[in-house]
Amino acid sequence: MNSKTATTAETTTAAKELQTKVILSGMRPTGPLHLGHLLGALKNWKKLQDEGNICFYMIADWHALSTEYEKPQMIRNNTFEIAIDYLSCGLDPEKSTIFIQSLVQQHIELHMIFSMIVPVPWLERNPVYKEQIAELQEKELHTYGFLGYPVLMASDIMVYKATHIPVGIDQLPHIELTREIVRRFNFFYKDYFNVPESLLTETPKLPGTDGRKMSKSYGNCIYLKENPKDIKKKILSMFTDPKRIYKKDPGHPDECPVFAYHTLFNKDHQKMKNMCLSSEIGCVECKRILSEIIVEFLKSIQEKRKELEKDPEKVWKILKQGTEKASIVAEKTLKEIKNIIGINYEKI
Ligand code: TRP
Repeated sequence: MNSKTATTAETTTAAKELQTKVILSGMRPTGPLHLGHLLGALKNWKKLQDEGNICFYMIADWHALSTEYEKPQMIRNNTFEIAIDYLSCGLDPEKSTIFIQSLVQQHIELHMIFSMIVPVPWLERNPVYKEQIAELQEKELHTYGFLGYPVLMASDIMVYKATHIPVGIDQLPHIELTREIVRRFNFFYKDYFNVPESLLTETPKLPGTDGRKMSKSYGNCIYLKENPKDIKKKILSMFTDPKRIYKKDPGHPDECPVFAYHTLFNKDHQKMKNMCLSSEIGCVECKRILSEIIVEFLKSIQEKRKELEKDPEKVWKILKQGTEKASIVAEKTLKEIKNIIGINYEKI
């Protein structure tokens, strides 16, 4: 490559990077958020917001209903809780549109349109679907709605013509399906949508307090709203290096879930590592230090939460205003789409 083409390529890349992204992401209101959500998603969402992108962050209550349809009462309460989690982690309603999915009806309309063009085998071979059906055997998930879960995600994304979707690796097959659906729409009707891209979060997965993936169903989470006493209790009961039986034995920090936390939260983690390797520090002391760091880390988030809990009206108002902002964009998109496919009755 000569220097001229290199420069052109570089400029193009730079121009692309400079373009404002339209971001959309969401979480299902099935329970309170934990440290894994913060490191794996919210931190990145906030960064994207603070970089000046156009951000839509929703609470995916319809998606929650797809698995929690037998006890839907908890969804509303969790919606409120998650809104507080979003806000206390720094999502700013002045910069981002924070809203409730079910209040913007165009998601459902676009879902209907997409569902007409999605071949069922695409959905049946979705690895996430197959995995969840196998894993959540206690639930009847062979429903029409659950099979269409990714179709609803595609609608969430395209109703705002989002360009970039920050998600964890587990959601990648869904974004891939969105891309397929969009291409199919463009092929049948008009080259209308840009094909969106996923933005993979760099943060490594945070293990739960038992070393497995942090998940509500395993009971191994540290919640963002967890009180300091419970945080300490949970961390002190964490499994450590299984090969270290006595304090005088040297530890294996790289195999220890407690050390995984130190790397993420403790700026002096190298020092901890050396002390563990040379058995200068025991596991109990190591966990005690960690618990203090985590309590301190969550302090400002929890203070913000307390403030918001005192003023629920304010939280609902933020969601209402976000929903109004989102609806304006969604209405415009649906109007255009209905014109494209010719299902419009404006003359009536
Ligand atoms: N399925 C996502 C999850 O469980 C939540 C979600 C719903 C979502 N709609 C979305 C994420 C659209 C990204 C884009 O995490």
